[in-house]
Amino acid sequence: MLEIVDISVKFGGLVAVKNMNIKIEKGKIHSLIGPNGAGKTTLFNVITGVVKPINGKVIYKNKNLLDLKPEKIIYEGITRTFQNLQLFNFLNVYENIYTGIAYNFKGDIKQILSGESKKFDEEIKIKILEISELLGLKNRLSSYPSQLPYGVLKRIEIARAIVSEPELILFDEPAAGLNTQETSEIEDIFKLINKEKQITILLVEHDMSLVMKISDKITVMNFGEKIAEGTPDEIANNTQVIKVYLGETENA
Ligand SMILES: Nc1ncnc2c1ncn2[C@@H]1O[C@H](COP(=O)(O)OP(=O)(O)OP(=O)(O)O)[C@@H](O)[C@H]1O
Ligand SMILES: [Mg+2]
Repeated sequence: MLEIVDISVKFGGLVAVKNMNIKIEKGKIHSLIGPNGAGKTTLFNVITGVVKPINGKVIYKNKNLLDLKPEKIIYEGITRTFQNLQLFNFLNVYENIYTGIAYNFKGDIKQILSGESKKFDEEIKIKILEISELLGLKNRLSSYPSQLPYGVLKRIEIARAIVSEPELILFDEPAAGLNTQETSEIEDIFKLINKEKQITILLVEHDMSLVMKISDKITVMNFGEKIAEGTPDEIANNTQVIKVYLGETENA
């Protein structure tokens, strides 16, 4: 479905990603793990067009995404969430989710929200209500982000990412900062959107128990390079991976 081919990224003298190759298969949950600074978010930024690699291709539906402008990539059916929450504080929950509707998000947001836009129709409202029901946000729609707990904010970002019904979502540390209960809610949500909505998921996450439970395939990065790839079982028993993670705990 998505093929990352020979991608390398440099920031000045630092090689953040080095000759990465990953194949993401349709309908799967594929996780990308690795220590801090491994290059995971940078790879997301390459896929979504905001960081330009020095070489390589990102092939999606026979197109090289690197040829597209970042704002056009969402029209290809790819959305993401951010490692640091990026919600609009001046918009309420309903409006924040609304901004995820790609095909309407071409004009002025306030104009669209005020109902002046002809495209603001029943269908979109129904969609937003359905998604907020699915994510337990229905009673929060008129609240503003500053009034809500962190776990709820994370779910709003997910809602915004799935409301446009993408084929592929990139989640960057969706469980970071969440407690066990909230993490298990995220797990259920991912299973639901993967199985019922048929959305392929590329997940960056440090919570290993979550990663091991939900992934079909795992790619491990260290210092910008792929060091292992396989099923959760294979990765859990890979000596090089164990070494990298043990080294990390020793240093911590
Ligand atoms: N815009 C940038 N300019 C310069 N260096 C950057 C930039 N973005 C990332 N880096 C560096 O590139 C390397 C990879 O960073 P990246 O954010 O991709 O890591 P990560 O795997 O997402 O780590 P974490 O788990 O901490 O989020 C790091 O050394 C980081 O400091
Ligand atoms: Mg990151």
